[in-house]
Amino acid sequence: MKKCLLFFTLIFSSMVYAQDIQIIPQPQKVRAGNGSFAISSKTVIVSKDRKDKRSIDFFNHYLQQFYGFSLQVKNAASTNYISFQTKRFITKPANEGHYTLDVTPRRIVIDGDADVANFYAVQTLIQLLPVERKKTLSIPVVAVEDEPRFGYRGMHLDVGRHFFPVEFIKKYIDFIALHKMNTFHWHLTEDQGWRIEIKKYPNLTVKGAYRNGTIIGHYPGTGNTAQYYGGYYTQEQVKEVVRYAADRFITVIPEIEMPGHSSAAIAAYPQLSCFPDESTKHSPKCVWNGDSTGKQVQQTWGVFEDVYCAGKENTFHFLEDVLDEVMQLFPSKYIHIGGDECPKANWHRCPLCQQRMRDNNLKDEHALQSYFIQRIEKYLNSKGRQIIGWDEILEGGLAPNATVMSWRGEKGGIEAAQQKHTVVMTPGEWCYFDHSQVKNEDSVTIGGYTSVEKVYSYEPVPAQLSEQQSQLVWGAQGNVWTEYMNNVSKVEYMIFPRMSALSEVLWTNKENKNWNDFDKRLQTQFKRYDLWECNYSKAYLKK
Ligand code: ACM
Ligand code: ZN
Repeated sequence: MKKCLLFFTLIFSSMVYAQDIQIIPQPQKVRAGNGSFAISSKTVIVSKDRKDKRSIDFFNHYLQQFYGFSLQVKNAASTNYISFQTKRFITKPANEGHYTLDVTPRRIVIDGDADVANFYAVQTLIQLLPVERKKTLSIPVVAVEDEPRFGYRGMHLDVGRHFFPVEFIKKYIDFIALHKMNTFHWHLTEDQGWRIEIKKYPNLTVKGAYRNGTIIGHYPGTGNTAQYYGGYYTQEQVKEVVRYAADRFITVIPEIEMPGHSSAAIAAYPQLSCFPDESTKHSPKCVWNGDSTGKQVQQTWGVFEDVYCAGKENTFHFLEDVLDEVMQLFPSKYIHIGGDECPKANWHRCPLCQQRMRDNNLKDEHALQSYFIQRIEKYLNSKGRQIIGWDEILEGGLAPNATVMSWRGEKGGIEAAQQKHTVVMTPGEWCYFDHSQVKNEDSVTIGGYTSVEKVYSYEPVPAQLSEQQSQLVWGAQGNVWTEYMNNVSKVEYMIFPRMSALSEVLWTNKENKNWNDFDKRLQTQFKRYDLWECNYSKAYLKK
């Protein structure tokens, strides 16, 4: 891409018209000019290609929502227009999404290598709009040429620990789109709740989607809410979310956790456990509400020993059935199968798991986990899908085609790339947005400390990797675990402004990144958050 950008003169937005050009993530090339173009209700959109509909609809919806008008779409116009063109694959970029945006006082021209590129141009145009509600919107004269650095630019959301309505999931997807990110990792199953309707196994949601209470405060907690809590997404709602995301060029990757973090599924179907007759265990330090006999959906946080039995064929039949329905709902090539934090104690004392190990010459329970994941991978591969798993899937031997999501630092990502596997980086130190973002948070978080500056400093390609191995780093993702986020406003507070910093880590080439410049642009971004009426941490807001 670098060569084809040469005809542009590189002038950073911070140097010219700093008050007008405040784009996050920073485009690769910005050439500011003199004057402005005025968007009003008389401005028209010129487009001959139905494929631009998604981008145009997004833009018009944004205008309508925040400025109270939208634009007509026509085949041609001589002045006062925003034109969409698509120079299909004249220069095939490494990462899809190369576009130019050219603003003159008479018109705006958007020209992308693909439909998704025009969508990214729209996001840039949106960030040239004033941050206050007005009737005439002045856009500075500018020429932008841009494309993403990484192909995978993701945000994750845990809806297991706390459940969020479809309306918020859509808002979250809009946040992803507005940051030119392209992947929503939807963490749908947990110990504390199963959140996706599976028609063949109704108890997953009848029983598994609800718990009888939740600990209060930081683990082990000061009590229990004693409130029945839960919820789930129907298949119709899931389809609606997937469609909504696709309209914004966002892939939804569902996560169905296995073999661990499966207490809710086991509460629904106890036979999935190595020991169906044993009651669910919880720490004596935590206050439990209601019945504590039999299998229960967890009310507290942590890692639990009751996991799917790897010795029973029925476990695999169940998971294949679940995945069949999941694949019907999610067109994503990648399905996340979890794989993290699976204690091996039950497998160690389970006769069926031990028999499975003998039958397959597996030397320990880590090898049994590897058997489990490889078997699921084979199934998904046979249906044309690929697996992603947390870095524990390296233990006992990596499944042949798996992509590794590195969360326990960078080590798993480095190892996987060295084994020629694709990697998505989500190391806790930089990418866990459940950590505190200021030293003295005014509400409870899981702990840790990951400031926006720290997120911004992240370099997804570990220095240890060779040039060839570096190519296997697909991108990175912000992870949002919601033990301590029980409402949407808290989720917004935890992601902003860190998600904005991560978007620039993933989009903008290293040489175009600059913390001081970002910090200045962030001040305008805070006003955009206000416009969107969303919550955010004000720690970096300059009063
Ligand atoms: C994880 O944070 N357990 C992937
Ligand atoms: Zn077992």
